Amino acid sequence: MVTMQENPLRVGLQQDRIPEPQILVIFGASGDLTQRKLVPALYQMRLERKLPPELTIVGVARRDWSHDYFRDRMREGIEQYGGGLGSEETWKEFAQGLFYHSGNIDDPESYKNLKSFLSELDEKRGTRGNRVFYLSVAPRFFPEAAQQLGAAGMLKDPTSHRLVIEKPFGRDLSSAQRLNQVVRQVASEEQIYRIDHYLGKETVQNLLVFRFANAIFEPLWNRQFVDHVQITVAEKVGLEGRAGYYETAGALRDMVQNHLMQLFSLTTMEPPNSLDADSIRNEKVKVVQATHLADLENLELSAVRGQYTRGWMDGKHVPAYREEEGADPNSTTPTYAALKLFVDNWRWKGVPFYLRTGKRMPKKFTEIAIHFKEVPYMMFQSAAKQVNRNVLAMRIQPNEGISMRFEVKTPGTSLRTRSVDMDFRYDTAFGQANTDAYSRLLIDCMLGDQTLFTRGDEVEASWRILTPLLQAWDAPAPPESIPLYEAGTWEPVEAELLLNRDGRRWRRL
Ligand code: BG6
Repeated sequence: MVTMQENPLRVGLQQDRIPEPQILVIFGASGDLTQRKLVPALYQMRLERKLPPELTIVGVARRDWSHDYFRDRMREGIEQYGGGLGSEETWKEFAQGLFYHSGNIDDPESYKNLKSFLSELDEKRGTRGNRVFYLSVAPRFFPEAAQQLGAAGMLKDPTSHRLVIEKPFGRDLSSAQRLNQVVRQVASEEQIYRIDHYLGKETVQNLLVFRFANAIFEPLWNRQFVDHVQITVAEKVGLEGRAGYYETAGALRDMVQNHLMQLFSLTTMEPPNSLDADSIRNEKVKVVQATHLADLENLELSAVRGQYTRGWMDGKHVPAYREEEGADPNSTTPTYAALKLFVDNWRWKGVPFYLRTGKRMPKKFTEIAIHFKEVPYMMFQSAAKQVNRNVLAMRIQPNEGISMRFEVKTPGTSLRTRSVDMDFRYDTAFGQANTDAYSRLLIDCMLGDQTLFTRGDEVEASWRILTPLLQAWDAPAPPESIPLYEAGTWEPVEAELLLNRDGRRWRRL
């Protein structure tokens, strides 16, 4: 199999290599992710000729489906959620490499059968023993599946056997440590791909390029010039029928530990020595290890949670979280979380990082905003009668781009200032759609490039930061203990206070 020694990020960005023939085995293939994301992404790559013709996909799940039934479902997925079939010819060729294998996650016999089925496919399709096993099952099955794959000898070869594990990786620090132990017993770190689809987003990868390919920002990127940083991941969607999972997860496990912490670490890390996977991941781990909640004695000064009540979104009435199908009517599961973090290192000591995420917010919006310090002395009269700070905002999605806010003189005889934005937009600059995050990650995994996957120590470091909060928020509490916000509005008032107390405000997006 191809391994990436030099400059994997550059290779990843250019996507100019085609993986070797291989079999991608998806566990949990009857679920949404396979139909909506994984297979449409693979199909799109096939249309773009980025995959070898031998690529073979085997869906594994409990249900008793035929290969043809599986193919029909995947076709529907590509038509509905992907970019369409292209030509019937291409679909036919792709469908010949799609197979379904029914099996039980805890039954050694199923793994034995799977193993011999994969060997048959090697013969038939020329896939040469190369395998990626993708665990898209409920997180409680991760340890079992990894152990069984190991016991069946399917992860033996470190260069041709890979294991992809979906999020959330663990529920807290100790369970993540246990899961790391289990997977490391059957596979080496080089074989383990902990997936976080945010790392596959073009704009997230651009954070590295923006920071380290430009000379003008890095000198300002520190406690001397930065007042504070706000990282927002706002979503309009609610529970989307996922109560079974979400009730046990909540915003911290679903979004903060993974997606927000990735945005945070790429924003705060030191420049890596090189672009190889471990140099980048070493720097990410270092900064996350230096990070802590603002006040561990008073958690309410470090974080605020919230849950949406019924409200209106796009002119439609939407139910409260507790009224969603499958949710506990007295649930205290947070659908919103805001955190204040500090980083104890030379670059960032004393600079607050405010992170927030919520469901049923007025807008879908993901952004990292660097708020610079005020000028030491303001000699101009500002139109708003207040001193505005320069803000560098990196829009991750939608309207992907970067804007810089600065002050200008308003036209006229008096000397007044106003804030304006200088804006870069991906779509106007490049006029092309972004590559889908799953496409990028799947191809990187098949190429053996771990840059955009989370290393075991990194996952543990981010769980460590959140564990005091998880313990406090998981404790049984009366329903009225959680602050509420109306669906279609921004955060609960308590979250406003988290910043107001420091003389700051959340950005209105
Ligand atoms: C997933 C979460 O990981 O990310 C979902 O489980 C969330 O709850 C989704 O809606 C958001 O992803 P994106 O790419 O739409 O920002």
